[in-house]
Amino acid sequence: MTSAVPDRASLESAVALACRAPSLHNSQPWRWVVDRYGLSLFSDPDRLLPATDDFGRQMVISCGAALNHLEYAFAAQGWGIDIDRMPARADRELLATVGMFHQREIVPDDARLAEAIPTRSTDRLPFAAPPSWDETTPHLQAVSERSGVRLVVLGERSRAALEEASLRLSGLRGGNPVYQAELRWWAGHPDPFPQGVPEAALPSATQRRSVSLARDFPSGTAASADPAALQDQAAILLLTTDADSRLDWLRCGEALSAVLLTCASRGLATCPVTHLTEMPATRTLVRDLSSDPGLPQVLIRVGVATHEQTLPTTSRRPLSEVLFKVRPTPPE
Ligand SMILES: Cc1cc2nc3c(=O)[nH]c(=O)nc-3n(C[C@H](O)[C@H](O)[C@H](O)COP(=O)(O)O)c2cc1C
Repeated sequence: MTSAVPDRASLESAVALACRAPSLHNSQPWRWVVDRYGLSLFSDPDRLLPATDDFGRQMVISCGAALNHLEYAFAAQGWGIDIDRMPARADRELLATVGMFHQREIVPDDARLAEAIPTRSTDRLPFAAPPSWDETTPHLQAVSERSGVRLVVLGERSRAALEEASLRLSGLRGGNPVYQAELRWWAGHPDPFPQGVPEAALPSATQRRSVSLARDFPSGTAASADPAALQDQAAILLLTTDADSRLDWLRCGEALSAVLLTCASRGLATCPVTHLTEMPATRTLVRDLSSDPGLPQVLIRVGVATHEQTLPTTSRRPLSEVLFKVRPTPPE
């Protein structure tokens, strides 16, 4: 296969779609660098959230999600990609290099997932139970396995324990001023910023009580059609990896993206949930609740949306801030 680089418009549109990927608090911790051989993906340590994500695990997971979005964005344009993950041991920020080649045909499944990119968003409102769930889960498991990441369905018995742990953790973190300052810096602002979680994407004060398995964000303005009537009936999924290396995190992000886009393409609403896997005690609890020996990385709520109007999409940073022709040299 001969490698090539698409024209500027195609490349920019694929990277723009990749940047629609989910990221911790919409921090968008990625940088793309294009040269005549292809693209490189770097994590951006200036966008690390130290009080929430001290080791940068979720920063790398977020970048993995962007890498997977890129793959589908290119596939829908008739480009295949060759990914070399963690190609340089000495450069921790370089997560992947991506070579491109012309594909003979566009695979309909890939095109469907690319089409789902602009329609996917994180929905933090309560969900109705997902229909045909027994038929959907093997498919989601296969999608996740392609990245070497296991997807576990947590049964109803786990729900109460997870919800209780979530409430306890919210209480604990309520008294942590550094965590709270970081959360409030990133989330709950009325103005349209090109980063962070806007108040329109956060449940209203009354609605917050309907979803116990949720990070304790500030209150927002999002509400279900009938806020009084609903308790969350989301199915709960867990992504696990064998180890906790940066490669595991990157692959986990790729699996997360593929699972979220598959759900979106089937009309299902989703919400990644990571506060419980951030703290050692609650991470151990999640591991004990799952039938899987792997390390819990990301929980995902999946179900049917309960709001009438589509939630507004969250903003992204302009391409000029994340896509560069050559790798910028750090200041002396
Ligand atoms: C690694 C990671 C962790 C996340 N953790 C949470 C979380 O704990 N709670 C939540 O409501 N959303 C979580 N999200 C979703 C992000 O907040 C969301 O992707 C971001 O605000 C952009 O919005 P969008 O997904 O609607 O495009 C997470 C996303 C990623 C990739």
